[in-house]
Amino acid sequence: MSEYQVNDKGYYGNFGGAYVPEMLYPNVEELQQQYLQIIQRSDFREEFDQLLRDYVGRPSPLYFAKRLSERYNANIFLKREDLNHTGAHKINNTIGQILLAERLGKKRIIAETGAGQHGVATATVCALKGLQCVVYMGAIDIERQAPNVARMKMMGAEVIAATSGSRTLKDATNEALRDWINNPVDTHYIIGSVVGPHPYPDMVARFQSVISAETRKQLLEKTGRETPDYALACVGGGSNAAGMFYHFLDEPSVSLVAVEAAGKGVHSGESAATTVLGREGVLHGSRSIVMQTDDGQVVEPYSISAGLDYPGIGPQHAWLHKTGRATYACITDDEAMRAGLLLTRLEGIIPAIESAHALAQLEKMVFKGGENVVVCLSGRGDKDLDNYMKYFGF
Ligand SMILES: Cc1ncc(COP(=O)(O)O)c(C=O)c1O
Repeated sequence: MSEYQVNDKGYYGNFGGAYVPEMLYPNVEELQQQYLQIIQRSDFREEFDQLLRDYVGRPSPLYFAKRLSERYNANIFLKREDLNHTGAHKINNTIGQILLAERLGKKRIIAETGAGQHGVATATVCALKGLQCVVYMGAIDIERQAPNVARMKMMGAEVIAATSGSRTLKDATNEALRDWINNPVDTHYIIGSVVGPHPYPDMVARFQSVISAETRKQLLEKTGRETPDYALACVGGGSNAAGMFYHFLDEPSVSLVAVEAAGKGVHSGESAATTVLGREGVLHGSRSIVMQTDDGQVVEPYSISAGLDYPGIGPQHAWLHKTGRATYACITDDEAMRAGLLLTRLEGIIPAIESAHALAQLEKMVFKGGENVVVCLSGRGDKDLDNYMKYFGF
């Protein structure tokens, strides 16, 4: 087994595990005992593959970005998760988890959401399957992300405002956990990234691993080699990066580059650069790297992109960082916004601001010429148009 994958105790090196209140043991244990068995069954695989194909629109294209390649003197390929139904990679995971929930006999789904992308992806699969859906969202995020709130409601989800604390993602997550404690039997909690107690980080990474599985095949067709020289992805909790890296982890010739949000500058006090600013600690049920004060209070993160605005990273990323298997870089708001506009002008593709962080890293890399570089374009920029307009004054 790969040293970069979860071990049978739910750890990546010294990161991971399941640090949950006693009241949640039964829920988490049920998942731990059943998830692998269920998701490896042929009825699950067949339905998962069919929905990814016919409903999500997979395989997503691997697009050779010619003009971007000329600019950076390398062969740049974009893995087009932005073309998925609902506009981002998040749907790969929610399809997987709704099929699991069905097989566990759950009738009610809860989720937390920050930017609303994961909430929309969850409401979508609940509509698809006719299951009740409750999404917790910080009161401030509800104001900031009105179109996504409308989408969730249109699909029949109930959106509940988290009004405690900073009224953002972290508070919504706490509310969702509280709900799960109170409804242990009929409810499944769909976590939206490779975070949370074991088995969530591994389970979500497996669902997102379709990204690198497809990339290998597509690269072989386009370049004659299954592996790129570099694979890049942005990291909030880390699910699109985990999916992009999954099938390259044990290929030392592939340099893995994860990009975090540096907000207004790594040391500005307004950033989400966890690997630079964080220390080891427990957040949302697993041991990882966490932005925290000296006495262990979680620090409020900041990024212009709501999806990267998270004070931790998934435990697998903490391990990839510690072992040096992947490089963790960070990109400021300004650098990301410029990269988003550049892709729009050079290729006619408006990226999500989250994905623009990964693109901005290309500016900082020096290529000899001829290297094959894959960037995970995790989502489309429609949800960010207001932000782009305001920033550039269009
Ligand atoms: C388009 C997009 N990319 C990336 C992310 C970050 O999440 P993750 O790090 O789990 O991929 C989000 C989160 O909402 C997103 O919407």
